[in-house]
Amino acid sequence: MNAITQLFKIQYPIIQGGMIWNSGYKLASAVSNAGGLGLIGAGSMYPDVLREHIQKCQQATSKPFGVNVPMLYPNIEEIIQIIIEEGVKIVFTSAGNPKTWTTYLKEHGITVVHVVSSSKFALKAQEAGVDAVVAEGFEAGGHNGREETTTLTLIPMVKEKIAIPLIAAGGIATGRGMLAAMVLGADGVQMGSRFVASFESSAHANFKQTVIETGEGDTQLTLKELAPVRLIKNKFYNDLQELYQNCPKKEDLELLLGKRRAKRGMFEGDLIEGELEIGQIAGLIHEVKSVQDIIDEVVLEFRNASQEIKGIVL
Ligand SMILES: Cc1cc2nc3c(=O)[nH]c(=O)nc-3n(C[C@H](O)[C@H](O)[C@H](O)COP(=O)(O)O)c2cc1C
Repeated sequence: MNAITQLFKIQYPIIQGGMIWNSGYKLASAVSNAGGLGLIGAGSMYPDVLREHIQKCQQATSKPFGVNVPMLYPNIEEIIQIIIEEGVKIVFTSAGNPKTWTTYLKEHGITVVHVVSSSKFALKAQEAGVDAVVAEGFEAGGHNGREETTTLTLIPMVKEKIAIPLIAAGGIATGRGMLAAMVLGADGVQMGSRFVASFESSAHANFKQTVIETGEGDTQLTLKELAPVRLIKNKFYNDLQELYQNCPKKEDLELLLGKRRAKRGMFEGDLIEGELEIGQIAGLIHEVKSVQDIIDEVVLEFRNASQEIKGIVL
């Protein structure tokens, strides 16, 4: 038992990050059933779709699960009401001010975790009363911090500042990675990219295949003027880079991005024009597997690696 397994009443301190277009109830319930904590990604769901996923998740698992709510969401009030009405007990908020919803959610008996990319925001989240913080480094897939602080440096710096449980994210896909993050001071890990390449993720088969083919150096953090995001270098990414050569205004970038790029890429499988979000650690993900196999492998490798470490004497 540790601070994270106790907080969520789960077996392993492994959290599957909420991910737009990838983490519906199938993924979330599979992770929870395998002993981790699954999160439904509300960021790409209309309110009625979210309600359906919560209800299906409740049927698919008796274990704890949660919902990730990016606070930029246009229908956020409605989303929060649905979460409360459906009796969700764990919420991970991201991309916004933790003060906005933490007190309200906690008043409704919900455990609240906030995702940050710096110690400054980790402190703000702690002050806002969250139960734990996810500190996400520059390596991570999806939206990210502007400062480019890596997980290796972020975790110990956040650990130095906060007293509440700390979850490390960004660049973790294996038991060795998990052990390293915990040695740096994390109480648990949140993995995203590794779970994209699972049978249960709702990503299009084309995207899953691309993730396992993605190598070292094939992703880049871009669109810092809008919301920084790590993308695979496909045609859409190259079009963006071409636009950057002409010192584009924010509106030019918004125009090229358009409205449906992420859905088109990750959910509909358009590998050319779509937005393909994945982390640097994709270079270490070589196979699409079941969630059960992924978690079993991570736990076994974690255990073996911790034995190995014990043998190292300085
Ligand atoms: C495809 C994709 C979509 C994501 N969408 C979200 C999201 O909607 N909300 C959020 O808080 N984080 C999102 N993330 C970040 C993950 O929850 C997680 O923190 C991150 O993937 C961890 O880093 P890793 O990719 O190196 O494992 C996304 C990540 C990926 C790869």
